Amino acid sequence: MTKNSNLAIIILAAGKGSRMKSDLPKVMHKIAGRTMLGWLIESCESLNPEKLIVVTAPDMDEVVDAVSPHLVVFQKEQNGTGDAVKPALEHLKDFKGRVLILMGDEPFVNLDVIQDMIDYEDIAAMAVTLDDPAGLGRLVLDKDGYLERIIEEKDCTAEQLKIKQGNAANYCVPATKLIDWVSQITNDNAQSEYYLTDLPEIAAKDGIKTKVFNVDVEIDWGINNRVQLAEHERYAQEKLREKAMMSGVTMIDPNSVTLSWDTEFGQDIIIESAVCIGLGTSIEGNVVIHAFSHIEGAIIEQGAEIGPFARIRPKSLIGKGATIGNFIEVNRSNIKPGAKAKHVSYLGDSTIGEKSNIGAGTVIANYDGFFKHKTVIGKNVFVGSNSTIISPVEIGDGAIIAAGSNINKNITENAMAIGRSRQENHQGWATQYRYVKKEQKKLEDED
Ligand code: UD1
Ligand code: MG
Repeated sequence: MTKNSNLAIIILAAGKGSRMKSDLPKVMHKIAGRTMLGWLIESCESLNPEKLIVVTAPDMDEVVDAVSPHLVVFQKEQNGTGDAVKPALEHLKDFKGRVLILMGDEPFVNLDVIQDMIDYEDIAAMAVTLDDPAGLGRLVLDKDGYLERIIEEKDCTAEQLKIKQGNAANYCVPATKLIDWVSQITNDNAQSEYYLTDLPEIAAKDGIKTKVFNVDVEIDWGINNRVQLAEHERYAQEKLREKAMMSGVTMIDPNSVTLSWDTEFGQDIIIESAVCIGLGTSIEGNVVIHAFSHIEGAIIEQGAEIGPFARIRPKSLIGKGATIGNFIEVNRSNIKPGAKAKHVSYLGDSTIGEKSNIGAGTVIANYDGFFKHKTVIGKNVFVGSNSTIISPVEIGDGAIIAAGSNINKNITENAMAIGRSRQENHQGWATQYRYVKKEQKKLEDED
């Protein structure tokens, strides 16, 4: 798609995020399995900017990797949002369009309002009205509704704290003015930081008024701590579930289901309570996922049935109409169409052929303490209950494994394998045993 040569975007993401109490840069914390920054970059990409520049700190390698292929610049010391934009300006010297400045800790921007801000010809600032705008800068408007100044909460008087209109901290500024205005920001405030929020006052000195663009929000604005992170997670989950249900997924108890940002669904799927779907999962039509199941990195094909209490781990494929029942763990395995494992099994590094039946308590011992090995089970194989299959092993089509077997040799097609010690029956032994024991007890009681 052609780029919008009139638009550059700067995302500020160099802050320490000290209120998160974390070793991880704040913007790398995840919502529905995707980083805050990832969510925001996706929205920015939909605007096709000429340049997308992310400001981060020199020690935040994780952020650099996440931003690729977009531009990354470094703020050497975290002296505030007004200082953070400076390294990005180096890349905008010859740029004459609009510069959208966004905060990395505000992952869910409203693109309609952002577009209105881009389309406006002068400086624009986004505002949110909240019952409790705690933590946000407060907006002071003039009699015509233009933004006179933004006062950071720590610099507010008791009276100013009562203002409900908070600073959403998304701005759109003409590039030709931005470099000059930013150079005028000082750190003369309660936190001795360079506040980007000084821009409206500085613009006013040039006779330019800042227009306010209000945005409706359903959550606290921005993420500064883990409570706000959890609130954004709840919000994202709600939206993902709504999207899934609208596309043909029935959820018995939606609030107990967690999805990932990239979960893909077909139609006529039923998801029971307390199901967790991790990253990289695709679920085709007519699948039923019973309660308390955990699935990640897997493809579940048409009509398969999962759970209750199933765990499907990454690189697994559950074929058409296959059944993975209760207390089954499937790991890096290909369960072919119509195969069944219904009770208490571990299937790791394996292929289970079409229509094969894995009995209760089957364990595929795939790990020797150093290396993982593969087991390939053919079509229509019957594995008797409580069998241990010690990989690597190949089991031919139609083979039968007797219950309770330890299998560590290949089995040819249609053979029967039994790998257990034989049972011996001793006639009358139990009667004699009880007699002897009772006599011993009598003697003891007499003593
Ligand atoms: C900021 C605004 C506040 C607004 C709120 C909305 C300022 C001074 N305050 O406060 O008015 O209501 O956002 O969410 O702008 N960052 C840097 N370098 C720094 C400091 C911050 O890159 O030196 C980045 C952070 O990584 C973050 C963003 O800027 O993504 C905002 O910083 P943060 O410290 O969260 O500001 P708030 O206190 O939330
Ligand atoms: Mg913040």
